Amino acid sequence: MLARAGLMGGCDLDTGRPDPEPVAIVVFGASGDLAHRKVIPALWDLFAGGGLHPESRIIGVARRAFSDSAFRQELRDSVAKRARTALTEPGWKDFEAKLSYLQGDLDQAATYAELARRLEAPGQAANRLFYLAVSPDQFGPVAEGLAAAGLGSADREAREGEAYRRLVVEKPFGRDRQSARELSRRLNACFAERDIFRIDHYLGKETVQNLLYLRFANSIFEPLWNRQYIERVEIDVLETGGIGSRGGYYDHAGASRDMIQNHLIQLLCLSLMEPPPSLDPEAIRDEKVKVLKSIPSYSPGDFLARSRRAQYLAGTGAGGEAIPDYHAEAKVDSASRTETFAALRLEVDNWRFAGVPVILRTGKALDRQASEIRVIFRRPPETLFAGLCADRLPTNVIVIRIQPEEGIWLDINTKEPGRASLAPKSLRFSYREGEGGALPEAYERLLADAFQGDSTLFIRADEAEEAWRIVDGLEAAWSSPEAPAPVRYPAGSSPDLDVLRLDRP
Ligand SMILES: NC(=O)c1ccc[n+]([C@@H]2O[C@H](COP(=O)([O-])OP(=O)(O)OC[C@H]3O[C@@H](n4cnc5c(N)ncnc54)[C@H](OP(=O)(O)O)[C@@H]3O)[C@@H](O)[C@H]2O)c1
Repeated sequence: MLARAGLMGGCDLDTGRPDPEPVAIVVFGASGDLAHRKVIPALWDLFAGGGLHPESRIIGVARRAFSDSAFRQELRDSVAKRARTALTEPGWKDFEAKLSYLQGDLDQAATYAELARRLEAPGQAANRLFYLAVSPDQFGPVAEGLAAAGLGSADREAREGEAYRRLVVEKPFGRDRQSARELSRRLNACFAERDIFRIDHYLGKETVQNLLYLRFANSIFEPLWNRQYIERVEIDVLETGGIGSRGGYYDHAGASRDMIQNHLIQLLCLSLMEPPPSLDPEAIRDEKVKVLKSIPSYSPGDFLARSRRAQYLAGTGAGGEAIPDYHAEAKVDSASRTETFAALRLEVDNWRFAGVPVILRTGKALDRQASEIRVIFRRPPETLFAGLCADRLPTNVIVIRIQPEEGIWLDINTKEPGRASLAPKSLRFSYREGEGGALPEAYERLLADAFQGDSTLFIRADEAEEAWRIVDGLEAAWSSPEAPAPVRYPAGSSPDLDVLRLDRP
């Protein structure tokens, strides 16, 4: 990868990236929530920032009846509300000319035949990106419909300069290891693995990408990044909202399938992986898989000892809103034991981290909203301050805050002026202060990478399967007769669980 010295001594890694090529983008599920809230606004942001070639076109596919102009009007409203870049009249005029709508049922071969016809029309780019913003049970059928209409890539060699056909797949990728493997098999029969981009939007967040920069572009952290200096690692993705209208999906998933299998395990991998031999996507993904393979397959009893689960009761959310009892949420079984909060202690049993607890916590309807990684260091030897202060000596902590207030801080101990007294202080780096408040949206970054064929920030098939191995073990333990029922906590609070003492050795 080429790089050049940038302003103030930095180094721009994007210099070697080719300019965007024209691409025909097909958004399946274009009338749905994800398309409206994330995918189309991200395409607008890319367009506004020059990240979309002017000859690119976007075709939306869904069942609802829309004329092209009604479809454009709907998307205009979503872009105005959701996009990072303000909508301007001339800009929108240019953008909407790229948008068209295809009404069709994904179960019908005729939909794909019509799509193929439109993609062959004059003015359409030869590069194609198919975005599956549809329900997970449609991922396989849509890939198969595309392949049957001659739009797949499994039978095409990857040749330099040849047009691409790529498939972007949303989460969840399967509901256990077996179904993830089966889904990959179905997709691979239609699209080559190099052309499949499994999204975990957490990987598109600036602060998550920054983990690799922090660890491997500095020389001061890596020597300490091991069992000798790190006491434990905590990874939290805490949300204040309840499940809202997602009951039909959530009650069959719960916090472990919805969040641990993807976002939290991805954060764990990036925090603890070995330095890859290069920044090549496969080199990075190989290291992530090695981390996952170092996590043991615990017995059900062991999983129960190292996990806690909880479920919210009615309460007042952090924003003052009323949140109903989980059992009273729409499309939730009134006797459901599905967890809305989960905590799990894992160990990465390799040379570098053996014995260091890694505690994952995630939940809904909690008293605070925060996603962060905390690396907690061991106390210094007891000869001096640690001997005098014992437990009152705060430990050094590196906090990598993913949201809100994206940034990194390092808690250190300092002397209080005028007194022989120790006080913890933070050295802080705030992303928003540094970047004038405008961070790119995760979907924007991920779409730009998919156009470039850069799969670094996407999940490989074996990664998804290894992550499921861990969650499958946890789920099996929780469905065993020995498993205690979830603890219940009032919405807007924090479950009172001894999660830090999860059977520490
Ligand atoms: N929403 C989010 O924030 C979010 C976040 C992460 C992942 N995801 C994932 O993204 C995917 C989409 O989620 P969503 O929330 O956008 O769902 P949604 O609002 O229910 O949208 C589903 C879309 O699929 C279309 N559709 C359904 N059946 C169809 C059929 N037989 N033929 C043609 N179109 C059909 C619907 O269009 P019509 O109703 O017009 O047919 C609609 O456009 C899911 O896999 C979800 O897990 C969503």
